[in-house]
Amino acid sequence: MRLSQRVLTVPESPIRKLTPLADKAKKTGRRIYHLNIGQPDLPTPEGFLKGVKNFRGEVLSYCPSPGLPELLQVFSDYYRQREIPLAPEELLVTNGGSEALLFSFMAVCDPGDEMLVPEPFYTSYYLIARALGIKLCPVPTFVEDGFHLPAWGEFERRITPRTRALLVTNPGNPTGTVYTREEMNMLGELAKKFNLFLIADEVYREFVYEGEHKSFLEYSTLWDRILLVDSISKRFSACGARIGSLACKNPIIRKQLHKLAETRLAVAMMEQMGAIALAETPSDYFQRANLEYKRRRDITVAGLQSIPGVYCRRPEGAFYILARLPVVDAEDFAAWLLQDFYLDGATVMLAPANGFYLTPGKGKDEVRIAYVLKEEDLVDALAILKEGLRVYNNRSTASSG
Ligand SMILES: Cc1ncc(COP(=O)(O)O)c(C=O)c1O
Repeated sequence: MRLSQRVLTVPESPIRKLTPLADKAKKTGRRIYHLNIGQPDLPTPEGFLKGVKNFRGEVLSYCPSPGLPELLQVFSDYYRQREIPLAPEELLVTNGGSEALLFSFMAVCDPGDEMLVPEPFYTSYYLIARALGIKLCPVPTFVEDGFHLPAWGEFERRITPRTRALLVTNPGNPTGTVYTREEMNMLGELAKKFNLFLIADEVYREFVYEGEHKSFLEYSTLWDRILLVDSISKRFSACGARIGSLACKNPIIRKQLHKLAETRLAVAMMEQMGAIALAETPSDYFQRANLEYKRRRDITVAGLQSIPGVYCRRPEGAFYILARLPVVDAEDFAAWLLQDFYLDGATVMLAPANGFYLTPGKGKDEVRIAYVLKEEDLVDALAILKEGLRVYNNRSTASSG
């Protein structure tokens, strides 16, 4: 028997690569502050579970492939409140934003086709693209620019006859960058001029601390080419619900997306029931979540900037910071923190940033920090990081622990 090259060439998720080391450290009784993973810690609104309990049937039947009509209506209302006109039939319920990404990539690219993506980018893009034989073409952005976009020419010179789409995350993961209107205008003009699809991943849409977030769907001139990826995972701190959505105003694309949705029959019913009930969440929920994350962001940025040799900018949204550390190999440092260093019985887990880059060698001295811990834990974690860096860089003269 022979496995496919397709599966063999998909790398393991770099975000989880250090997990065995963390598990080992936990077994020895050490506490680990997880700054490595974008799992929000705010409680999921209680409406979700109430919604699940609303189930009165006797059989857990298949739901319609595009999603339960009530949930499609809830999503449509949600967007309408944000002045994004999306009818229920212009939406699909998906198994998280992840499936919305999978369907989008499958719908617009054949094997060998290319998509441009600002780099660094969310690792799963590469894993999914690789599994589908799609080539991701990174467009470099830099920590000094707050990972804002380079000029038009940097995109244009990477466009080939195989380029099918621009893939963008706004607000960004791992960068936290929120694109300005000018940047969005530029991406829209590029998509139109070169007749590209625009896959807009807006799963962090509700977490913006500076300026305003604009959805690509607010640009009606782009409606025929946008696939909008969204999710309740981050929005409602409900990663385990696995409910996302894919919005598309172009009926020709939509017809094809529906065929893909039919291949997996349906999304789980109970989770859709829970997601429907989230519509009852008090209207100040996002405001409170934003205040909390903004406070954490400010603590984290101030903490990082006070560590000698660490460089980061203050990101405008999401809950991540990409920071440059005064080390040659951030992955080695992150592994060392888990294996060899602890302060008062605790250490921190970081996501080495090389996994967010495709360009060889890039991100080697950077880490992504997810500020999804409560304030006092963040303060402790940053103190451990500071001391860890000091000890790591003086290993010949100091000992850890
Ligand atoms: C940018 C981005 N898009 C999509 C996803 C997928 O989220 P989910 O499948 O949980 O909706 C994530 C998860 O971390 C993400 O960071």
